[in-house]
Amino acid sequence: MNAAIRKARPEDIPEIVRVTNLAYAVEAYCLRGERTDEADVRARMEEGLFLVCEETPGRILGSVFLSIAEGRGYLGTLAVDPACQGQGLAQSLVVAVEAHCREAGCTHLDLSVVNLRRELFPYYAKLGFLPTAVLPFPREEKVITPLHLVQMSKALWPREEP
Ligand SMILES: CC(C)(COP(=O)(O)OP(=O)(O)OC[C@H]1O[C@@H](n2cnc3c(N)ncnc32)[C@H](O)[C@@H]1OP(=O)(O)O)[C@@H](O)C(=O)NCCC(=O)NCCS
Repeated sequence: MNAAIRKARPEDIPEIVRVTNLAYAVEAYCLRGERTDEADVRARMEEGLFLVCEETPGRILGSVFLSIAEGRGYLGTLAVDPACQGQGLAQSLVVAVEAHCREAGCTHLDLSVVNLRRELFPYYAKLGFLPTAVLPFPREEKVITPLHLVQMSKALWPREEP
């Protein structure tokens, strides 16, 4: 597939919302409501940025949020259109987030996973992330089944070092 990764622009917001909610439907059994909406994405564009994976102009196949604070990157709402999963798009988005964070001088990249999503732990481990903390889920009103977040982190060595 010939898809390019670029920084999202405000006009991408509806597509980011569409792809994210479609992908996160897998969490409907444990978290109620949709994962995001236009106001949420717009607000997060002020705090950080989204990268999108675009096949043809305006057709977004995947997206990811990233923000930086105190020398650490945070990766959130990694989502790939279910019709395009299993083709390495998420991996390319994670690699692009890592590159962005390295450029910005970050020493680590963090993300968080709902503990019930057992399949994601080996997925992120393969990408170099290890569990580093257990955190409460921040939006209790959405919780259907008791759950918490597991923070996973990766050290971002400078590119020239092993
Ligand atoms: C998780 C997600 C982003 C992965 O997207 P993707 O584009 O299918 O992932 P990739 O194709 O880059 O996967 C890379 C590798 O991980 C494997 N993989 C992908 N999703 C996996 C899953 N859910 N469980 C186990 N392995 C998985 C792929 O088979 C591939 O393995 P390979 O390199 O040996 O072939 C996608 O399934 C998704 O959007 N899920 C819903 C939202 C979500 O759960 N986001 C993460 C929340 S923390």
